[in-house]
Amino acid sequence: MADGRLKILTHGCSSYKKPTAFLWNAGYRWSRSGMALSLVGFLLLLQLCFVASGTNAVSGDSQLRVSLSQVEEENSQVHFHRTKRFLQAAKRRQRQPGPATLVDEFLDENSPLRRVFFPEAATAINPVNGDNYYRPGNIWLDTDVNPIQAHGGGVLYDEISSTYYWYGEYRDVPQGSTTGRIDVIGVGCYSSKDLWTWKNEGIVLPADMENKTHDLHISNVLERPRVIYNEITGKYVMWMHIDTGNYSKASVGIAIGDSPTGPFQYLRSLRPHGRDSRDMTVFKDDDGVAYLIYSSQSNSELHIGPLTDDYLDVQPDMQRILVGLRREAPTVFKYQGIYYMITSACTGWAPNEALAHAAESMMGPWETIGDPCIGGTNTFRLAAFLSQSTFVIPLPGSPGSYVFMADRWNPAQLNDSRYVWLPLTVGDPAGPFEFDFGFPSWPRVSIYWHQKWRLPLGRR
Ligand code: DGJ
Repeated sequence: MADGRLKILTHGCSSYKKPTAFLWNAGYRWSRSGMALSLVGFLLLLQLCFVASGTNAVSGDSQLRVSLSQVEEENSQVHFHRTKRFLQAAKRRQRQPGPATLVDEFLDENSPLRRVFFPEAATAINPVNGDNYYRPGNIWLDTDVNPIQAHGGGVLYDEISSTYYWYGEYRDVPQGSTTGRIDVIGVGCYSSKDLWTWKNEGIVLPADMENKTHDLHISNVLERPRVIYNEITGKYVMWMHIDTGNYSKASVGIAIGDSPTGPFQYLRSLRPHGRDSRDMTVFKDDDGVAYLIYSSQSNSELHIGPLTDDYLDVQPDMQRILVGLRREAPTVFKYQGIYYMITSACTGWAPNEALAHAAESMMGPWETIGDPCIGGTNTFRLAAFLSQSTFVIPLPGSPGSYVFMADRWNPAQLNDSRYVWLPLTVGDPAGPFEFDFGFPSWPRVSIYWHQKWRLPLGRR
């Protein structure tokens, strides 16, 4: 049962020279008290490590690192136990309790592993005195030392200012504080020269607090904002998913601004090509043609179509792709004339397996080339490292190298959702060898799990 296996390695505590493994093995018949004691011991040790790391949050080696590492040996396979806590959680989610999985554990707010999935503030990525390392899943602070609020985000590289702008859902209000589910109070914007140090540029498209009939009223849904620059009009154009609280409006919204930091003026919402549209992204090609990609037909397929020259509408042209596959969270990038897309399955805020797709033309046909995730445990990979794709940032000057951006959603507290940024590469699966696959082979798209990594020196 691959889904129930997890090995946790903690290392980096100053008192440990080698990684220390904590293993649960369903094959061992542990008594309840033995298990409870082990769990308490594990938690205490985990706590100690976190405390140790918290006292010296930026000092590299002494910092706690918790990783989910690949389990090779039969003896180190782990099954999550169907504890009372797990059964209660399954009941709350109105699910039949089957074997507990990593995702079940992740979704359980009372899980003892909560801090592994959502590391505490002391381990935050801090640009003020940090070391340039990305730490996927850790809180990420901006230059004012506040947690970055740019969920479901996308990045624009602005040639004019040679600056990166990160736009995303600004969710910094306690869940349910005003109107229940909806907690996006606008589109947050952050700027950076190095993709690591981010300055808060404010909310560039605020929610409307008064007018209940407005698309941007706080009771509605605003997700996955994307900004592209239009060379013809000199305007920055924002596209986003606009919806009602029950996701029945299923539309895209369009806003326009004179500068990357706005303010953006909201123009309208529409159903592209007359179809329902939920998760979406936009992709601007080398020739200046931009495309809207959106989940449609109740998320059962994706649609792609070019935008008008001013990027303020869609053209009538549209292709249905990945029909019946039920994919969402699309993000597109291009390498050596081939288009690639990463998507997730549709499981609400819960993580699931990522897939990569490729095509020779934006309008298809698109072919699925498999799960791009590499490293970590099997279950961790199959849950896209407990995250969901949102964007892929090209690294100019590093052909075939990208930064994969994903969200580790915290459904119980969406404003504390985390960012999972990882290196993505595109490479030839055949290497230097000569053989014939007998069918068209796409280059391999790889997203590598790293608990800590950074960009090459020249880029920092
Ligand atoms: C998954 C989507 O990718 C998110 O953007 C959000 O719409 C959630 N579903 C809502 O359940």
